[in-house]
Amino acid sequence: MNLTDRVVVITGGAGGIGSALARRFAAEGAAAVVVADLDADAARAVAAGVGPVARPAAVDVTDEEQVRALVADTERRYGRIDLFCANAGVATSGGVEVDDAGWDRAWRVNVLSHVYAARAVLPAMLVRGGGYLLHTCSAAGVLTAVGDAPYTTTKHAAVGFAEWLSVTYRDQGLRVSALCPQGVDTPMLAEGLAAGHLGARVIAASGAVLAPDEVADAVVAGLAEERFLILPHPEVAAYARRRAEDPDGWQAGLRKLVRRLRA
Ligand SMILES: NC(=O)c1ccc[n+]([C@@H]2O[C@H](COP(=O)([O-])OP(=O)(O)OC[C@H]3O[C@@H](n4cnc5c(N)ncnc54)[C@H](O)[C@@H]3O)[C@@H](O)[C@H]2O)c1
Repeated sequence: MNLTDRVVVITGGAGGIGSALARRFAAEGAAAVVVADLDADAARAVAAGVGPVARPAAVDVTDEEQVRALVADTERRYGRIDLFCANAGVATSGGVEVDDAGWDRAWRVNVLSHVYAARAVLPAMLVRGGGYLLHTCSAAGVLTAVGDAPYTTTKHAAVGFAEWLSVTYRDQGLRVSALCPQGVDTPMLAEGLAAGHLGARVIAASGAVLAPDEVADAVVAGLAEERFLILPHPEVAAYARRRAEDPDGWQAGLRKLVRRLRA
């Protein structure tokens, strides 16, 4: 898929990666870019910066009614949605001690919102014989986010759901990509590093911390190839291979890195 004349929706569109996608899609010639975010003021500011093709929307992706309304409003205004980017996500920080409200928030934002989006866009896409879903998951969804059990668990679920959609609907014209970056220089990682969280330090020690614009470059290339796994950090593919071939050895290596960072 190329972006020329496409109608695109991006959730978490006001954040680091979402706003970079919005700018890049507009530069690639998208017909409309809907910048949807919980933070209405930030969505308005991002849309204003992107220019006339962008439109802000205040949406909580954990509320199915609001996701349905976002999709219906976009289809009414522009006639269709070519690409829906389920990009909003939250980190939690913590392990088994995280309370149920924390696990529930991670589950709702990182997984259930992708289900809501798919439910809302699939009918029209299948009637039209095509459409594209880009799910921002994470390297945590194919590896492990040290220090964040809810993030690891829900991002694995997000990759699983994206794969299920791709296997189930590709022959009906649907394309699905799972975007799995490692460290990206956005408020999410910056806040973790500023707080000294072990997980953020492991990410910074495991490879390059990319600028959001570099992730947008990888997304445009991945969409052009209609590739399922979009890995802006090539080292993640090597880590995932190692994890699949030798799970015990891979875990031992990760524990060694954690011990070194803790020392
Ligand atoms: N930054 C990283 O290192 C990194 C790495 C891998 C994956 N990711 C993933 O990339 C995606 C974007 O994250 P980012 O790094 O740009 O972080 P960010 O915090 O800058 O952006 C996240 C955006 O999601 C919005 N959001 C949160 N909850 C929402 C809700 N209920 N409804 C609507 N919007 C909501 C926030 O307001 C924010 O604008 C997330 O899914 C994240 O898990 C980030």
